[in-house]
Amino acid sequence: MAIIDRALEGKVALVTGGSRGIGRAICVALAKRGATVVVNYAARRDAADETAALVTAAGGKAAVSGFDVADSAAVAEAIKQIGKDHGGLDILVNNAGVAINGLLLRYKDDQWQRSLQVNLAGAFHCARSAASLLLRAKEAGRIVNITSVVGESGNAGQAAYAASKAGLIGLTTSLAKELASRGVTVNAVSPGFIDTDMTAEHLPEAARAKLLEQIPLARIGIADDVAHAVAFLAGPEAGYITGQVLRVNGGLLV
Ligand code: NAI
Repeated sequence: MAIIDRALEGKVALVTGGSRGIGRAICVALAKRGATVVVNYAARRDAADETAALVTAAGGKAAVSGFDVADSAAVAEAIKQIGKDHGGLDILVNNAGVAINGLLLRYKDDQWQRSLQVNLAGAFHCARSAASLLLRAKEAGRIVNITSVVGESGNAGQAAYAASKAGLIGLTTSLAKELASRGVTVNAVSPGFIDTDMTAEHLPEAARAKLLEQIPLARIGIADDVAHAVAFLAGPEAGYITGQVLRVNGGLLV
């Protein structure tokens, strides 16, 4: 018999970069628990609409909101509107990210800036704009930031990406302390290698085989592996967990 879990019924969640990959899986996982999910997208409205349809099919209510997380004014305006449209915001998932890879000597200023601006400043912009709504959430608000194993271990050719993801951990622990007095929890989920468009673009077949040898659980992760961890941290049972980094990496880094 299927267990029906509607622990997020009545809660409003915003998932950045929700149009595909891990973000889409997170939207669906939150919807399965009954949440209203606002699917943020940067450019692909059609893909965000597809996610919204999956959210509805999974038992949640859906809305879409287009903005670039790197643009602080656009973030502020969009989140204000979400608050008005849905009567508040309970859960923010900072999932939007870009992997602009390249070796140090050839890495350009604009690549560095874009990496930091999307992956790190993007989460800061969203957290700042959402904070007053999260602090007023009926039950305690939640922020979940998607960092990366690479932010913890480093990786050749990914200095900017790793720096942005390491920074996201500092943002997580600091905001956890800053927002705790009102019960808002702030945690990070740190995925290992997950099968999505991002890894397909950057992980050739030979590198993939080599990587598999290093993963104790002997498989590349799937988006749902990450989404389940996020849905847990967003829920009432995780109310005493804050400032933590939950690794979802098959044992790649322990
Ligand atoms: P993806 O490339 O499929 O999805 C990234 C999403 O972010 C896309 O929907 C994209 O449109 C959105 N996005 C990018 N820039 C944006 C912006 N400026 N404003 C709003 N949205 C923007 O990649 P994937 O794999 O689903 O990644 C999701 C998150 O998980 C990212 O933060 C990534 O760094 C992280 N991650 C992924 C891992 C993997 O192995 N796939 C491993 C560790 C972390």
